[in-house]
Amino acid sequence: MGDVQRVGIVGFGLMGSGIAQVCAQAGYDTLVRDVEQRFLDKGFDRVDGSLARLVKGGKLTEGDARTARGRMRGTTSLAEFADRDLVIEAVVEKIEAKQEVYDELDRVCGPGTIFTSNTSSLAIVEMAARTKRPDRFAGLHFFNPAPVMPLVEIVRALTTSEETIETLRRFVGSLGKTGVVCKDTPGFIVNRLMVPYLLSAIRALEQGVASAEEIDQAVKLGLRHPMGPFELLDYTGLDINLHVSEIFFDEFKDPNIAPPALLRRMVLAGRLGAKTGRGFYEYDEKGQRKAST
Ligand code: 3HC
Repeated sequence: MGDVQRVGIVGFGLMGSGIAQVCAQAGYDTLVRDVEQRFLDKGFDRVDGSLARLVKGGKLTEGDARTARGRMRGTTSLAEFADRDLVIEAVVEKIEAKQEVYDELDRVCGPGTIFTSNTSSLAIVEMAARTKRPDRFAGLHFFNPAPVMPLVEIVRALTTSEETIETLRRFVGSLGKTGVVCKDTPGFIVNRLMVPYLLSAIRALEQGVASAEEIDQAVKLGLRHPMGPFELLDYTGLDINLHVSEIFFDEFKDPNIAPPALLRRMVLAGRLGAKTGRGFYEYDEKGQRKAST
């Protein structure tokens, strides 16, 4: 299992709960923190649903699912993170919120604890430099759905030590995932390629090249992608994609990655994708796509 034994996950939303589940399935003692009990309850419901899917698909035995669930514990207090060897932060993509978490963790955790962020858009070094452990700080970027997606990007900030990277390589391997080490630049590897592609798809739609359905079908059949760009935008959330593209544009000043008008307007309208019942397609309350869309 490597040198990490006790893992702490901060933020028990979609990504945090998926990451926590993966850690617990790999045998780690997994403590999760969210700010209110109702968010913890919701996260554990999501974990239970995901474990049940894995059992149904024959990828996990019922006994192993129960054991994994038993390794997870929830709290609303970061004070309980004192004994953690590794912390993975997956709170909202706002630098102030993340810094608040790290300020407290830095006081609570011993000097050996490694801090990582699952951010997809913020600079790792900005968070690392504020702590007393900039060398034991890195990005650990999982993909949605975390229990299924095999990749984790291990992001090396300017300050990250080689020893930290090696520990994280072993940790990611122990989760049964493949780790790819990359530099702390906007979008790392996957989002750097994916975001311009998704924005191009929205521009193609704006220009009337084809309908969302037709573009999705073309990409699925022509490139063998599991989802078309509009399905993926709805799945990951239009607000997240807008936020990431704004950060990209800020950094690169390239008009090709400026957020398209349609994306901004859909976010303003609250059409954020499956999570709000409507994005490019419509969804029921369980997040399943409605047949007619
Ligand atoms: N937990 C457990 N199992 C899950 C799951 C979850 N959350 N989601 C899907 N599965 C399982 C299903 O139960 C099913 O299992 P089975 O083969 O035993 O029946 C299997 O995965 C396939 O799922 P489905 O049959 O429902 O549908 P698909 O074949 O379309 O697969 C998908 C679903 C895995 C989500 C697939 O469509 C996919 O890979 N889509 C692309 C996802 C992607 O690109 N993610 C990256 C987004 S970018 C990102 O996260 C970065 C961030 O910074 C924005």
